[in-house]
Amino acid sequence: MTTLRKSRIGVLTGGGDCAGLNPALKWVVKTAMDERLEWERGVRYEVLGIRDGWKGLVNVDVATSDMEGHIVHLDPEAVRTWDRYGGTFLGTSRLSPFDPKNDVSRQVIENIERLGLEAVIAIGGDGTLAVATRLGRAGVNVIGIPKTIDKDLPGTDYTLGYETALNVIVEEVDRLRTTAGSHKRIFVVETMGRTAGWLALEGGEACGAYIILIPECDFSVDRVNELVLEGRRSGTRYEIIVVAEGAKPEGGTEIVKKNGVDSFGNKALGGIGEFVAREIEKGTKLETRSVTLSHLQRGGAPCAYDRRMGRYFGIAAVDLVVNQKYGNMVCLCNGKLSYRPLESLYGKLNLVDARTQYDTDRYNGRRTILSNGAVKKTGRARQQ
Ligand code: F6P
Repeated sequence: MTTLRKSRIGVLTGGGDCAGLNPALKWVVKTAMDERLEWERGVRYEVLGIRDGWKGLVNVDVATSDMEGHIVHLDPEAVRTWDRYGGTFLGTSRLSPFDPKNDVSRQVIENIERLGLEAVIAIGGDGTLAVATRLGRAGVNVIGIPKTIDKDLPGTDYTLGYETALNVIVEEVDRLRTTAGSHKRIFVVETMGRTAGWLALEGGEACGAYIILIPECDFSVDRVNELVLEGRRSGTRYEIIVVAEGAKPEGGTEIVKKNGVDSFGNKALGGIGEFVAREIEKGTKLETRSVTLSHLQRGGAPCAYDRRMGRYFGIAAVDLVVNQKYGNMVCLCNGKLSYRPLESLYGKLNLVDARTQYDTDRYNGRRTILSNGAVKKTGRARQQ
């Protein structure tokens, strides 16, 4: 008879919240505590939810059992309904234990040991997973689950929260269309995404935006105005222009809400929508308004895809723990669930390739999909 091994897994969510985190948490817990693991693999897991990202592992005081605020015992009954909800029931933070101004990484490693965690599953974006990678280097058993509405993590075709955020963009733009049309106005809609243009590009494609401005291609204000006037000449009543928060005009810089960076090194971007609206109104004399979608893109219940992907990523993460394949991030690659070494992703970002994935002349999604596609020339070529 094989002896039953008892073990503990910690799970946390870090960085900006988004839809899809709670589904992933639910499936980490359900999979880790599935009693079939006892019969088939001879192991019984306990799952500790760590509150507020890495901060929970900095602040937990195991010795005085001041665990309440920082650690929560999870079980399948507790998480039964979690996949229906947005945000994260564990809370989150952007605290990096490796912050050079206050390096508390040693404390985190000691607390992981004191809590008796065999592995830590970190659900996060580039900042959270960079911390996981560095803890992995120090000998901690870590597994990553990719999440971010920015979809800027390399090594995976999907990051939790992205599809729900796209749905928000489409819904809100649909709303703006009626008022834009009634007043013959131009609406500039600013999306999130940091230095990656995915949300703006694919959100803009999904909602049929007339112009899409992304950080990977600096735009000319004159060209934007030319396109707007061209639209009006062809009979449009209004235009929807989607701009990523990280986009910038040629020769200009990113617009920030406040100076400085957070503990993960991120700037607080925001304001480009208003800038573009002002420039259009000045250049075309057409009435223009701007709307910043901001945190609406991160809120709300997860869409069906985020519930499914949260489930698959959660299950896959526990598969990796059971098989002791530590130091990896679960991923979706070419439609298949798989995993990649966290180390191979460290310090990298997945950005839009403006040359092949964007129309740099008409500032929109590409119009040629297959290599021998129908549209060969850009609008500007036609005008010349
Ligand atoms: O990384 C996710 C994200 O939503 C970015 O798109 C955005 O720039 C940032 O987080 C906003 O962060 P905060 O929640 O701190 O305002």
